[in-house]
Amino acid sequence: MKKLLAVLILAVMPVLLFAADERGGPQLESVDIDVSDKAALQDGARTFVNYCMGCHSAKYQRYERVADDLGIPHDIMMEKLVFTGARLGDHMSIGMQPADAKAWFGAGPPDLTLVARVRGTDWLYGYLRSFYEDSARPWGVNNRVFPNVGMPNVLAGLQGRQVIGCKQIQRVEDGKKQYDPLTGSPLTHEACDQLTIVPKTGSLTPEQFDDKIKNLVTFLAYSAEPDKLRHRRIGTYVLLYLVVLFVFAYLLKREYWKDVQ
Ligand code: HEC
Repeated sequence: MKKLLAVLILAVMPVLLFAADERGGPQLESVDIDVSDKAALQDGARTFVNYCMGCHSAKYQRYERVADDLGIPHDIMMEKLVFTGARLGDHMSIGMQPADAKAWFGAGPPDLTLVARVRGTDWLYGYLRSFYEDSARPWGVNNRVFPNVGMPNVLAGLQGRQVIGCKQIQRVEDGKKQYDPLTGSPLTHEACDQLTIVPKTGSLTPEQFDDKIKNLVTFLAYSAEPDKLRHRRIGTYVLLYLVVLFVFAYLLKREYWKDVQ
């Protein structure tokens, strides 16, 4: 029985390892994305069409597919998420001409359908939260994760003004956050050259903003691999099937060996 169990664990190990697919540089905060979270996907889709599709397309994706995968009724999809005069069956493309984009921004805004596969979700989560004011740049903003990027900070209204400055951050030793042993309050030290949001300059709190971006990245992750939702469902059935098969195989083995012993 023990041996069989070990074999079963070894058999499913690669599946578990592949599931934890890690990407992104070490300086990026890692973000836990769940592409089966429908509420997150719907919120992300809303942010995407409202704040990103002015410049970026997702032209390998169709509105109808998004509506069906995300559980959005077709009439609501048309009313709330399709603004470009497109029909439900159309691809999510935009009217901006690449030549104009180049003239306006110096670099064309790339199509974002597959960006999560190219850059990874940690990178996207870091990038979208790392715009800061920099008067030396054409749009008055720069980005920590993508220095000298040609994209304006379209989310400043939600996040507020972000500047480089000094702030108190919690002391960490040996990977553990440090607390005052007497009062239990966090031990901090001043660190400069940090991204800091000027309080009350955005319509969302920092936590709400991070959530919004997480949902947006969830939508981009889904968009890059829409079949992942289906694969995951099939994967679950396969594992369940294996477990059931294992039980029967074990019972059968016991039945056979009864006569031998
Ligand atoms: C006003 C136009 C505009 C809007 C709106 C806009 N972007 Fe951009 N974005 C750009 C431009 C221009 C670039 C190319 C910058 C460069 O290469 O320097 C870019 C680059 C990017 C990149 C980097 C792509 C890569 O791999 O090089 C990502 C990711 C991105 N945008 C995401 C978004 C998201 C998400 C939104 C919505 C919240 C958004 N953008 C809204 C203009 C825009």
